[in-house]
Parts: sequence; structure tokens; C-alpha cells
Amino acid sequence: MQNYEREHLAKLRPYLSECMVLLKSNGAFPLAGAGEIALYGSGARHTVKGGTGSGEVNSRSFVTVEQGLKGAGFTVTTSEWMDAYDGVLRDAHAEFIRLIKKRARERHTLAVMDGMGAVMPEPEYDLPLSGIRDTAVYVLSRISGEGNDREFQKGDILLSESEKRDILFLQRNCSKFLLVLNVGGPVDLEPVLEVDNILILSQLGSETGAALADLILGKTFPSGKLATTWAASGDYPDIGEFGDINETRYKEGIYVGYRYFDSAEVPVLFPFGFGLGYTSFELYQAECELEQADTVSVSVRVRNTGCYPGKETVQLYVSVPEGKLDQPYQCLAAFEKTRTMEPGAEEEIRLRFSLHDVASFDAELAEWIMEAGDYVLRIGTNSRETTVVGTVRLTDSVKVCRVRSSFGIPDFSDWKPENRRTEVPEETVPCLIIEPGRIPVSEVSYNRDKPDCAPAKCLSDEELAYLSVGAFDPRAGVLNVIGNAGRSVAGAAGETSRMLKYQGIPSLVMADGPAGLRLAKDYVKGKDGARALGGSFPESMLELLPSPARFLLRLMGKRPGKKEQILHQYCTAIPIGTAVAQSWNLEFATLCGDIVGEEMERFGVHLWLAPALNIHRNIRCGRNFEYFSEDPLVSGLFAAALTNGVQAHPGCGTTVKHFAANNQETNRYNSNSQVSERAMREIYLRGFEICVKRSHPYALMTSYNLINGTHSSERRDLIEDILRSEFGFRGIVMTDWVINGGTINRASLHPAPEAWKTAAAGSNLFMPGSRRDWKNIVSALRGGELSREQLETNVADLIRVINELVK
Ligand code: BGC
Repeated sequence: MQNYEREHLAKLRPYLSECMVLLKSNGAFPLAGAGEIALYGSGARHTVKGGTGSGEVNSRSFVTVEQGLKGAGFTVTTSEWMDAYDGVLRDAHAEFIRLIKKRARERHTLAVMDGMGAVMPEPEYDLPLSGIRDTAVYVLSRISGEGNDREFQKGDILLSESEKRDILFLQRNCSKFLLVLNVGGPVDLEPVLEVDNILILSQLGSETGAALADLILGKTFPSGKLATTWAASGDYPDIGEFGDINETRYKEGIYVGYRYFDSAEVPVLFPFGFGLGYTSFELYQAECELEQADTVSVSVRVRNTGCYPGKETVQLYVSVPEGKLDQPYQCLAAFEKTRTMEPGAEEEIRLRFSLHDVASFDAELAEWIMEAGDYVLRIGTNSRETTVVGTVRLTDSVKVCRVRSSFGIPDFSDWKPENRRTEVPEETVPCLIIEPGRIPVSEVSYNRDKPDCAPAKCLSDEELAYLSVGAFDPRAGVLNVIGNAGRSVAGAAGETSRMLKYQGIPSLVMADGPAGLRLAKDYVKGKDGARALGGSFPESMLELLPSPARFLLRLMGKRPGKKEQILHQYCTAIPIGTAVAQSWNLEFATLCGDIVGEEMERFGVHLWLAPALNIHRNIRCGRNFEYFSEDPLVSGLFAAALTNGVQAHPGCGTTVKHFAANNQETNRYNSNSQVSERAMREIYLRGFEICVKRSHPYALMTSYNLINGTHSSERRDLIEDILRSEFGFRGIVMTDWVINGGTINRASLHPAPEAWKTAAAGSNLFMPGSRRDWKNIVSALRGGELSREQLETNVADLIRVINELVK
């Protein structure tokens, strides 16, 4: 292992337990020392470090739970069980692949297309619990990824019968039993709620298993909190639609996650913001005041009342008064995490937010408004355990900002609770009066500053078109796509055109994330550039190909040429997005960004295709693990913190994605998200706004889906009006990969996007780029559908960013 890898792992290790959420505890853990331990479950040996798809990182190595416990000195007594489980898994997997191939034959499609992203549900098994000891751990794993949503079925969101049986047996028969969840999103824990000790380990990258061993031995302590509500499967709402291949109506409007559960008073198993430590905390002496303009400041004292060190995260929620607009019971306005507090230690925490940040969107008038009334401030340690600490009384309503109406109107009205839950604060609670004049009002100019177009003006139509699509290489054929597009850097997902190098315009290299930098581990460099060796084509895709194609690809991919030297790029796998958010520690997120930025500099990558900050609208979304939270504030702040970490490195930028309302994987290329303008602005765009305003990412990726009938990549209102003019974005906009590709569901009603239309909407790059896309732009220019002026502006933006990033 090289020094930088060692350093990065060492920097991450102490923070990993901050990403784990202890859901239940009876004090049996941590253990006093390592000894015999019985280890069971799918994740014991087959631990998941992150999800599948473009978010998978090729790290040099990875510590499973079995290895982590053994490395920490435990004697694992259940090798026999784990060996037998390996056999069950092998057989189940072979059958799973056989069925995908059979189905593809019946449908006359390619198995590799039909089965893309397919995830095998956890198989049932019947194995004797040999090797059982008094101390036992059951590791339940789930994996998901691009192209496939999760299901409310056994072995996926629901526990399998075998899992339930074994978990309950261990709970009833072992004196110290820990259920460990090696998952990227919720599973339904209702049937096993009697278990006394439950920990969400999550998927923490390279050192997942080692971090668990640290925690079990009390070398670290858990301090993570849920960034998404965990409820029983029957209690998730079915107000809005999910997973239709053509139309998905977001009928729940703004009532997403805890905004729904808390307003409709639906029971949850573990609320948003919840997480235990090895110790306990008390909050007391809360005080609120109004600082300059409309900044609300709340201070509270925190005391560690238990016997272990710990960290607490204090959360400030606001209940906005209802008037013309309905409002959720509360929404998160600020949070702060303490330092490590020893038993008995005290610390004062101060939380601040600007009142206008909780303004609501009145779609009828296209205005952000604050209605008169009492804004109730609640302090707590999760959304269900809060205390009212004050109110801010706004004496008259304020129009905070007028904007251009966007997105059109969907074919439904948003749901709202019949009776909103309200509790009138006691009279003793302090009330701060604020006059409307203190709320800052703003105006948007939709004539954004145009970049200096001089360098673009000298280029021919063809040259402008080259710079508007990613670098395509006619020789690379199918390998031009994900994971092999990079000629400059092996395993990079894409690159801007190399055709204009002779004009002094170098290319930008882009590589995936978000759980680290995704590059090819092994590669060779020849006169044509870099070439990834084995591993760049995911095994999950290879096994779906017909045998001759598989053989050929393996041959091409693995063999270095004569005299070619095999080189390596080892990247650090950091925790998945949801785990980073579960830390509620923005400094940690910046550190993760810093690690990624250092590796980008090292390997010559300019743009990281991350962070991904789509909202956890529904727990079924297959890519939720890449995303942070059901809450836009958490999503926006974590994306900004990661961006700040990456962009502190010269020549490195982030690409925030997928803009916007990309909340399902089913027919992800061509499904139409029907959303009201209020929900778009308050929920689905808010995180992007926070991130753009706080960290100025260099790039942004639009999503595959349509929004109210038009692809997001072709929406000028989204890109030019909202992103650039309202949010002040100054970077480049690119499409997601192959948005006009061949994998579009045949039953889809919607047309595929076109390169020239994305350019006309103000998007700078059509990715990853092909000759067809280039021709499409050139002919739209010639035919007059696309103006040269627009293309010059797009290219001028790109050249500015290239000049800033490539030195
Ligand atoms: C994913 C993106 C990713 C891109 C490049 C797409 O399939 O949706 O998130 O960045 O591929 O790999």
C-alpha cells in the first residue's frame, strides 16, 4: 500500500463510527475485549462496502466483517456456517443469472440490457447455527444500484424468513447479541424489534469491517443519526406514485419523509434524526434571540449523563404558521454536533438560521412568501423528541422574492393533511417579535452576465459542436461508454473534446463517485492513451453476456501488450452518501472531499461526477444509498461540504447531480416526474440551491427523467432561469450519460432527448458524446433550430471552466 492510501484510510477511520446509527441498545456492547464470537448472516463474509453501478469504487482492498473481527483479535467460531452459506449464495446466484437470460430470450432482448442493475434478493437458506456462542453478531446485508429499484419483498426491504428465524433465535439464546445492518437504506425491522441491540453499520467503504470491530470493542463509539425515517413497511405512504415507466405523479407534494410522518402523525420505528450512543445526553437551558436582520439564534447546553464518551447532534426544527399555504408540522432549520464529550462533560451549542430560509413558495403568484404568525422553534435530538424553546412572531406577511413561473402544472393537486397537527406553545415560552422590514427581500435578474465569448467566436460551427459533446473516439465503439471512455485517464467516465487541443483548448477529465473516485485499478499506457485492464468492465455485466463476447472482452481487457507495463490507480472507497449524511458532521464530509480531491490531483481528474443529492423520496429508489437524505437542508449542506473539500484542491471540481426530480430507477431514461412547482422548489431543488450558493461547484449534471413532460436536460427554465439566474450557478451543465441511448424502455411513451435541444436549453455538454450527437448539433446549427449565439455562450462557459481547472 502506498503512503497516500495509508494516510487516507487513517484519516477516515476515527470518523467511521460517526456514520453508524445505533438503533437499540441494552448496554451489552461495547465488549470488554476480543474473545470468541459467533458470526452469521449474508454480510459476515460478503460484506457490502457500497452499492453497484457507476457509484462503485475500485479500491485496492476492502475489509469484510469477518476479516475486521479476526484482525481485531476475535476468534470467529462459525467458519462452517459461513462456508455453507457461500454454497447457498453460489447456487442462488447461478439460478438468478439463468432466469435473467431465459427472460431475455423470451422477450427477444439482450440479457445484458434486460438484467442491467438487477439485484438478487437475499436467498432463503436452512443451515444449522453451528458454532454458536454467548456473544453473537448477525450481519444482514443488502445491495442496490443503478437501473433497478428496491421492492417490498422478502430478501429486499422485507427480511427473509431465514433471516427472521435466525435473528430471533440468536436474540433469545445468546446473552450478548448484536444485529448489524450492512445496508444502504431501510429494511423493515418490525418483525425483529424485540432484538435488544441493533446497529446500522451502513456501507463504509474500504474499512467497513475494521470500523465495526473498533466499535464493538469500544475503541470508537456510535454517534450517527438517521438522515431518513425508518418505518414499518405498511406505514410508508402510498399517496404519491412510484415506479411507473411512463408517469410518476409526486402527489404527496412537499410531504416527503418526516414532513409527512410528523404532520400526519403516523407511527415510525425510528424517526428522522434518531440515533443512540454508548452514553446518554441531556439538553437544558435553551435560549433564543434575534441577531442581525432575520437571523434566529438558539443556544442550548448539552451534558453527557452516561458512562462513556460520546457526541450528540442537536437539531432545530421550525413549525411555519399556516395561512394561504398549508405547512408541514415542522422542518429542519439547523443542526450542530458536539465535540467528543467525556462522561459528565458539558458544552454549549449554538444553532443559527435565517428566517427567510424557511419561506414557502406560492405557486399561484410565483413568489417566495412568509406569512404572518408564530414561527415555533423546537429543539431536540430527533424529529419526534423536541421541546418548544421559543417562537418568532412575524407581525405581517412578506413577499421575499418574485420569480418566473416554471415547470407548468401537473394533472393533479398536491395532497395535504386534513387537519394539520398544531400544538400551541405554553405562555411561558419566550416570544420574539420581528417586524417584516427585517426580512431581506430580493429580486432576480434573468439577464445573467454572459461569459466572454471572444474565444468561442473564432471557432467554426464544427469546432463549437466538438466542444459541446464529450470526447468521442470512433475507434472505441461500445467501450466509449462508462468506465472506459477515458483515454487520458483509464477508467474515467468521460472527457471533453480532445479535437481542439491544437487550438490550445485542453480537455477536462471526469470520473465517477460518489463513494470515492472511480478509476480503473490496473491499466497500461500506450501511444493512443491509457487502457484499462480487467475489472473495468463490471463482472455483473460480463456474466450476462453470451460466452463468446465474454471471452473476447476478458481477453481484450486483461492482456497488456508486448512491452506494456501494468500501472495502477488505487482509490480510497469512502462511505456511501447516506452514511456520510448520517454522521451529521460537515467537517467529516469536507474531509471526505479533501481525500477525493487529493486523489483527483494525483491521477489527473478535473471533475468528480459527484456528490449526488437527490432526495430520498421513496425508500424503494435503488440509488438512495448514493444520496444523502429525505431532507433538502441535510442534502444541500453535505453536498456543499464535500464540494468545499474537493475544490480546495487546485484543478479539481465537483459535478453535483442529478438535476432534478430523479427519484426512481425504473425506466430512468424516460420516465416523466410530474411534480408541482412548490414541491420542486421547496423539496427537490432546495438542496441544489444550498449547495450552489455555499460552495459554487464547477459543474452540474442534469437527470435522465422528464419533469412535467420535458426532459430536465432540455428545460431552459430549469437550467437558465433557476440554476443560473436564481441560484447564481457559474459552472458548466452536462447531461447524464447516453441520455439518448439504446436502453430506453420500448413501452415508453416519451421521446428521447436530442443533443441540440439540450444545447438550446443552455446545457454545455452532451455526454459522453458520439459522432451522432456531434452531427445532431451541426445540423441544428445549419438548419437554424439552434442559434450560433447560444452555442458560443455554452462553449465560452466551458472554455472559462477549462482555463480555471487545467493549468
Ligand atoms: C449515471 C451517472 C454517472 C454516469 C457516468 C450514469 O449512468 O446515472 O450518475 O455519473 O453514468 O458514469
